[in-house]
Amino acid sequence: MSENTVRRPLIMGLAGFGTVGGGLARLVEENAHLIRRRTGRDIVIKKVLVRNATKTRQTPLPQGAELTTDPSALTDDPTIDVVVELMGGIDKARELIDSALEKGKHVVTANKALLAEEGLALFQKAAQKGRILRYEASVAGAVPVVEALKESLAGNRVQSLMGILNGTSNYILSEMTSNGLDFDIALKQAQEKGYAEADPTLDIDGFDAAHKLTLLIRLAYGVHYPYTALSVQGIRGLSRQDIRFAREFGYRIKLIGQVREVLRDDNEGKDSLARLEAGVFPALVHHTYLLARVGGVYNAVRVNANAAGALFFHGQGAGDLPTAGAVLADLMAVARDERPNNTGFAENDLPQALIVPSEEWRSCYYVRTMVEDAPGVLRDISGCMAAEGISVAQMIQKADEGQGVPLVFMTHETTAQAMSTALQKAEDAGLLKEAPVYYRIL
Ligand code: NAP
Ligand code: HSE
Repeated sequence: MSENTVRRPLIMGLAGFGTVGGGLARLVEENAHLIRRRTGRDIVIKKVLVRNATKTRQTPLPQGAELTTDPSALTDDPTIDVVVELMGGIDKARELIDSALEKGKHVVTANKALLAEEGLALFQKAAQKGRILRYEASVAGAVPVVEALKESLAGNRVQSLMGILNGTSNYILSEMTSNGLDFDIALKQAQEKGYAEADPTLDIDGFDAAHKLTLLIRLAYGVHYPYTALSVQGIRGLSRQDIRFAREFGYRIKLIGQVREVLRDDNEGKDSLARLEAGVFPALVHHTYLLARVGGVYNAVRVNANAAGALFFHGQGAGDLPTAGAVLADLMAVARDERPNNTGFAENDLPQALIVPSEEWRSCYYVRTMVEDAPGVLRDISGCMAAEGISVAQMIQKADEGQGVPLVFMTHETTAQAMSTALQKAEDAGLLKEAPVYYRIL
């Protein structure tokens, strides 16, 4: 490209210089030639905001950049075009983004927690100000699913979407399943590799996946599904015993985020909003499904859409460079395209989602009970299930493991309400030696 076709550089204020921020600085330098060829501009990091200016860092400060601990050094600098927020957290990040938009800057962020919990106001502000607010890296790291839903699949009605949305949990489950690692050791490794959130309970208790699912629902359906209304269960307490039994039936246990339309009739969803069933939960996935083969820090999203049919997106869901690549793509879009299309929907004020209560969801179940090895126990537990209309598809009984005999059932489809009622009745009747465990089967 000749010198006179190169436009003035895009000037960036980088907020956060940790795993992703450091990765971004390295990638901007490494891919400088590509950036210029694709956008016709250079990207220059002018200021870097951190919490602790004296900390020793793995990545050197970008050439010519100034380190600061003052957010207004970014937002009040009239030469900065775009603020990239890679700090994480809610309050400080929201203040920074709000102020950046107010001052007319574009924003790129990977902060799914903020966008899920308080994103609507920021999207509205961006729309009022005519600014771009991009967030590809906030869902599934390197996997380009945000833009796919917003742009490439815009002509499709999404019927369902399910995926593995948290790299840390998937890493832990994979290590427990394949290498027999303990939960705590696998978590520590995920933290050392830069996959986990600053507060890893967000990862293991399912909240990080729920943040991402909230964004995906907004992108796929153009509705506001409050994050707090999602049914969320993480992988804390998931036992090696259940991983082993699931394998015996031919399944892997994965932390799944899912949303699907539940239509009353063929017309629903066409010219009105469909009711949505959405949540995050550990589930048994048959080993022949692609999702079951998604290992380590990899994430995947399977979308069913009314024109495209089934699509499967797969890639690294966390880590410095995989995530930085997604942030950089957003920055390059800012560099070459000044048209904001932040939510993918024309309305600034998205309607509320119509939510199917989680008790009504229908699924097949894996159920493990610990019982006394005595005549009639199997009959009585099966009776509790039958009384709620639950039909058992398969059952295995294992040898006494000390605290009783594991009785494991695979059921036909039933509601969550029926399943919890049946197991409560079994517990009330004194049939169970410990709390039952039950997971959906995909
Ligand atoms: P990180 O390694 O903990 O880095 C956070 C950076 O932000 C640090 O440089 C920290 O400064 C700075 N910071 C934090 N609070 C600040 C404040 N109040 N004022 C100024 N600077 C502040 O975090 P990360 O893993 O890079 O994650 C950053 C964001 O990306 C989060 O929203 C996360 O959810 C998201 N994300 C992460 C990944 C991943 O794989 N790690 C993937 C996708 C999305 P100091 O260095 O001085 O402490
Ligand atoms: N902590 C997140 C995960 C980072 O493990 O998936 C990527 O969003």
